[in-house]
Amino acid sequence: MLKEEKILQALGFDLPVTCLDVTDSTNLRLKERCRAGDHRVQLLCADSQTAGRGRLGRNFLSPEGTGIYMSLLLPLPEDGLPLTIRAAVAVCRTVEEVCGLSLKIKWVNDLFLQGKKVCGILAEGVENMAVLGIGLNVNMPENGFPGVPVAGALNTDADRETLMGRMAFHVLKTLEERPDSCLSFYRERMLLLGKDITFLQSGQEKNARVMGVDDKGGLMVQTDGGMEILRTGEVTIGSHQVSAFE
Ligand code: BTN
Repeated sequence: MLKEEKILQALGFDLPVTCLDVTDSTNLRLKERCRAGDHRVQLLCADSQTAGRGRLGRNFLSPEGTGIYMSLLLPLPEDGLPLTIRAAVAVCRTVEEVCGLSLKIKWVNDLFLQGKKVCGILAEGVENMAVLGIGLNVNMPENGFPGVPVAGALNTDADRETLMGRMAFHVLKTLEERPDSCLSFYRERMLLLGKDITFLQSGQEKNARVMGVDDKGGLMVQTDGGMEILRTGEVTIGSHQVSAFE
């Protein structure tokens, strides 16, 4: 059973926090609350999810006791730097601070440790706000992650409530941070930088080299025809899909 007081203690300031034992999806529940008229910035956490959602309609396996499944209802950032970029930065900072582990960011916002995806982020719009969902595999579940060979875990003794509280703290802090400072942190941890990739554009496969991320979080790639900024589509290295973006 997750304890709200412990999360608030790690957070260090007051915020509406709700912990559930089990729910379908913390993102769905928070969107529902917002639509029902509760527009407070708030945090919803669950010990497990029965229908955890990933990007592009995928599932996010959310077994009990081993992971972090949390959603924040937030105002939309106004300076053009997407919430997903900020959230990736916040996850790295949290894991570094609490566990002493250094994660890599696979554009847009998958977090990797030693070649395994340990965290995914799903940002969704609701009314004039955003629901930011973060799923972090803290320890390996007994049965692993069946059918998801890329999934890994931090494998740490760190306390989940502490991680949740610090995560909310760092997410809220990035909302006040200057975009360039957030972006420089993000750029230092990019996994795809300098890699040769393939992407689909208007049904056509194109080869390119990753050169960086622009000020709005788009992936800058060098193709035979010049520099392009990717904002929609899918990126692959060889036959392995590494990143899907909406
Ligand atoms: C991805 O990897 O594609 C994104 C995964 C996001 C999972 C989190 S867990 C908490 C929140 N609730 C959900 O249903 N999804 C997000």
